[in-house]
Amino acid sequence: MATELLEQIRLNGAVPRHVAVIMDGNGRWARARGKPRYEGHRAGMKAVREVIEGAVEAGVEILTLFAFSHENWQRPAREIAALMNLLERYAKKEKHELKRQGVEVHVIGEVEALPDSARASVADLIEFTRGRRTLTLILALNYGSRGELVRAARRLAQSALRGEREPAAIDEAALRAELYTAPWPDPDLLIRTSGERRLSNFLLWQMAYTELYVTPVLWPDFTRQDLFAAILDYQRRERRFGKVTV
Ligand code: IPE
Ligand code: IPE
Ligand code: MG
Repeated sequence: MATELLEQIRLNGAVPRHVAVIMDGNGRWARARGKPRYEGHRAGMKAVREVIEGAVEAGVEILTLFAFSHENWQRPAREIAALMNLLERYAKKEKHELKRQGVEVHVIGEVEALPDSARASVADLIEFTRGRRTLTLILALNYGSRGELVRAARRLAQSALRGEREPAAIDEAALRAELYTAPWPDPDLLIRTSGERRLSNFLLWQMAYTELYVTPVLWPDFTRQDLFAAILDYQRRERRFGKVTV
């Protein structure tokens, strides 16, 4: 089944260059099984592996995964601790496999505010996978889009105060250059699992023209087949960017 979908993707041609994913539904997955929320997050790790392998197979160049939002600090301390612990374990356990697959890891978000041990293992993961070229994996950690935009505005104001630029010269390119995502093109496709139809403060600027795909599948159940189905759906769409097509 997965290979047939992959074959169809190849026949269709252009694959989304940058895919972003809001990995949602871990808590509901656990609740449906009478398990603690933590077990849902743990089960979600398998789906992370699936989506990375699927992205490599399909020829996606950049994959951004929303792993922890700025607003997620409002969750119970025990759940946050479990998530940080999982992140640390993921970084340590998967780094060799990611390197073998040719995955280069980056992060966006206020990573400095993560607990020391999680931050250190993520820094090591970034260092360890540097220079790989098959897939760029961007982990959004302690990320919030409004906070990112405020940070960019502050940096622009500081540079204007230093006399490095005229306020009137601040344009879209200047703001874009101050975002965490500056090195990469905007997402072509956003996938949100668990049926929620909202952006939850994720890449608001960057997704101005991103195609949105919502699936009812809960994140721990997400497989590469689901990724391929989303890519096929994307390939059927007509992107206009405000223009008319004949
Ligand atoms: C997504 O699953 C994981 C994170 C936000 C870290 P949730 O934990 O939000 O799962 P639901 O939405 O409660 O089912
Ligand atoms: C978005 O999911 C954040 C991540 C997937 C990391 P949430 O579950 O936190 O979003 P809301 O609360 O449903 O909007
Ligand atoms: Mg959720």
